Amino acid sequence: MISTRLHTAINDQINAELWSAYLYLSMSLDAEAKGYKGVANWFYVQWLEEQDHARILMNYLNSRDAKVTLKPIDAVRTEWNSVLEMFQETLRHEKVVTGLINNLAAIAAEDRDFASSNMLVWFIDEQIEEEESAREMIFAAESVEGDKYGMYQLDKELAARVYKQASPLATSAE
Ligand code: FEO
Repeated sequence: MISTRLHTAINDQINAELWSAYLYLSMSLDAEAKGYKGVANWFYVQWLEEQDHARILMNYLNSRDAKVTLKPIDAVRTEWNSVLEMFQETLRHEKVVTGLINNLAAIAAEDRDFASSNMLVWFIDEQIEEEESAREMIFAAESVEGDKYGMYQLDKELAARVYKQASPLATSAE
């Protein structure tokens, strides 16, 4: 059985993932409003991915006979001064999330809850990717700072990002 402490912490993480989704949706809408359709697409994909993260944790609690209790989602910022600032905030935020995931992993280890430890491995790996992609975006946005044509090209590149369902949710074709 999952401990009350871990149950509560995973339930809180569901809220944190939904807040992340809301943050990235807000960035997507702000980018769209400023004419950066590709940047808007990049963050829209991010919003979909964060909802997957929440769903994976919901499925996990359900599978452990632990009820999910949804909580209010706090307000998010709605304006950024530049695309670079959006990506800088993305990296800052993902570092916070990495800390939250590490905390869950620490509780699971203390509980000797091997099933939870195993489930969390996917999130630990995912956070490496999340931080890496935010760093890459910061580098790309810094590279075109003050260069309108460069920003136009970068925006076009980001329009190509495609959502792919997170592997723990992907259903087998068989
Ligand atoms: Fe759910 Fe961006 O980590």
